[in-house]
Amino acid sequence: MGKINAVITGVGAFLPDYVLTNDELSRMVDTNDEWITTRVGIKERRIEKDPQKPASFLGTKAVENLFERTHTNPDEIELVICATSTPDHIFPATAAYIAENCGIKHALCFDVQAACAGFLTAYTIASNFIESGRKKKVLVVTTEKMSFMVDYTDRATCPLFGDGAGAVLIEGNEEGFGLIDSEMRTDGAGTDYLQMKAGGSAKPASHETVDAHEHFVYQEGKVVFKHAVTNMCATTAEVMERNNLKGEDLRWFIPHQANLRIIEAVGERVAIPSDRVYVNIQKYGNTSSATIPICLWEMQNNGQLKKGDKIVCTTFGAGFTFGAIYIKWGYDTDK
Ligand code: UT7
Repeated sequence: MGKINAVITGVGAFLPDYVLTNDELSRMVDTNDEWITTRVGIKERRIEKDPQKPASFLGTKAVENLFERTHTNPDEIELVICATSTPDHIFPATAAYIAENCGIKHALCFDVQAACAGFLTAYTIASNFIESGRKKKVLVVTTEKMSFMVDYTDRATCPLFGDGAGAVLIEGNEEGFGLIDSEMRTDGAGTDYLQMKAGGSAKPASHETVDAHEHFVYQEGKVVFKHAVTNMCATTAEVMERNNLKGEDLRWFIPHQANLRIIEAVGERVAIPSDRVYVNIQKYGNTSSATIPICLWEMQNNGQLKKGDKIVCTTFGAGFTFGAIYIKWGYDTDK
């Protein structure tokens, strides 16, 4: 038996209908389309306005979309890993709600908290279950209702984030397709620069924490920006070197979509031709763990992914958790 790799065999996604534009944001806080476009690269983002529709709703829709595309029977799924920073509840796992909604009855389900690095972390974890032969069909779901923790009175953070979900089906492959390499790391010295200050056991919710807006995303943007560029470059370069890859060998480079300036800086520093760097931040903003699956979903639907394509993905988020993976794409996609 050859080596088993964990290959993506289908991608689904869900984006809420409501489009929050820069112009609408400009009427809410002291900002403007020009600042957001030039400093971040976002034009609009999607928002799930219905308070009755939490992260599990978005994740469920993404899985339904995936199942429809791949004709998957929920009974075949043996493991559900949900990456989210906006869980329905602190406990139990959002993965359990999604599994229940989707009729998945025979799977272990758990959540991963790696913020924006959630997808690459969850895929790396999933690959170990697949490579060992312990699980055969794994779902990785990334779902974020970022709008629930965005302070729409804070111009420094409210233009950045959007809601959305992505889901991938992962199976074993013995022909050399799938996850070839992964370099994921955490620098815990970064915890204070990007976090939700209250609501956990370190600072339980109180009237004071609500009054102080401490249940929203807190970010020191400049510090995060610097660390994002440095660490995404370092891990991408490491993965490319280890696998003898030059920029022009890659069909696609898919970075986490947090800021167009970060994406361009990383792409240039690791010498990837700019037409191979995938960008959709202008449409959806930063959907945290869901950005890379949403890119893959768009690319799949546009027929932009071919069997054997060499792809490097990189990410950076709270923790700081960051890294890069190298995959050989496993199936041809058609429009
Ligand atoms: O996904 C997780 C990882 N997160 C990231 O990777 C995000 C990393 N950080 C960033 O992308 C950027 O730091 C931000 C987009 C968050 C901010 O961009 P920046 O270029 O670092 O701007 P800044 O915070 O230094 O602010 C520059 C100026 C300030 O004005 P003064 O002090 O120079 O007069 C801000 O008050 O821009 C002002 N400003 C705004 N102006 C108009 C900040 N936000 C806005 C705004 N509209 N929305």
